[in-house]
Amino acid sequence: MSTGVTVWFTGLSGAGKSTIARILEKRLKDMGRKVEILDGDVVRTNLSKGLGFSKEDRDTNIKRIGFVCHLLTRNDVIAISAAISPYRAVRDYNRSLIGNFVEVFTKCSIDECEKRDVKGLYKKARAGEIKGFTGVDDPYEEPLHAEVVCETDKQTPEESAEQILKKLEELGYIHQACKA
Ligand SMILES: Nc1ncnc2c1ncn2[C@@H]1O[C@H](COP(=O)(O)OP(=O)(O)OP(=O)(O)O)[C@@H](O)[C@H]1O
Ligand SMILES: [Mg+2]
Repeated sequence: MSTGVTVWFTGLSGAGKSTIARILEKRLKDMGRKVEILDGDVVRTNLSKGLGFSKEDRDTNIKRIGFVCHLLTRNDVIAISAAISPYRAVRDYNRSLIGNFVEVFTKCSIDECEKRDVKGLYKKARAGEIKGFTGVDDPYEEPLHAEVVCETDKQTPEESAEQILKKLEELGYIHQACKA
């Protein structure tokens, strides 16, 4: 019997959500599980096309992702959300909606995220070309009770993925011993 679950990443831009999500997806698929990633960047070009970055629009975006994760999870899929999801209240809203919910905090200092600047967005935010950028001039509310905290400025992405798999096993969502 496989049980659905939502793995909900949260963390600053560049903290490693998408990177770790992709490694996790592969590992879970290799175990024979059905997996779907809802990546923030992709969702904003379709499901949430037209939404901006005000608090209201961010909350709407995160609730939409949460709703899709809810549908997938109740059909025994492993749904992985990889969006910044800066606000605690709406993450907790999704947690109550979905039930089988594992929150993963990709914890990384803003300095390190800014040094990585994968998409060049911090540079633009510092130059004032982007307004309301999370961690620069918009808030990020750290989770208080995340099931997993991945310190991505100290660990490799593979180590973080392992840490999440271990927690999923501990909570009974996966069985790593029987990989079929
Ligand atoms: N331990 C680590 N875990 C994850 N990523 C890491 C780690 N160390 C270095 N990196 C690098 O940091 C970058 C993280 O970028 P990634 O796109 O995954 O971030 P993100 O959290 O999805 O950001 P965004 O919110 O902008 O989509 C990648 O280039 C990745 O290779
Ligand atoms: Mg990403």
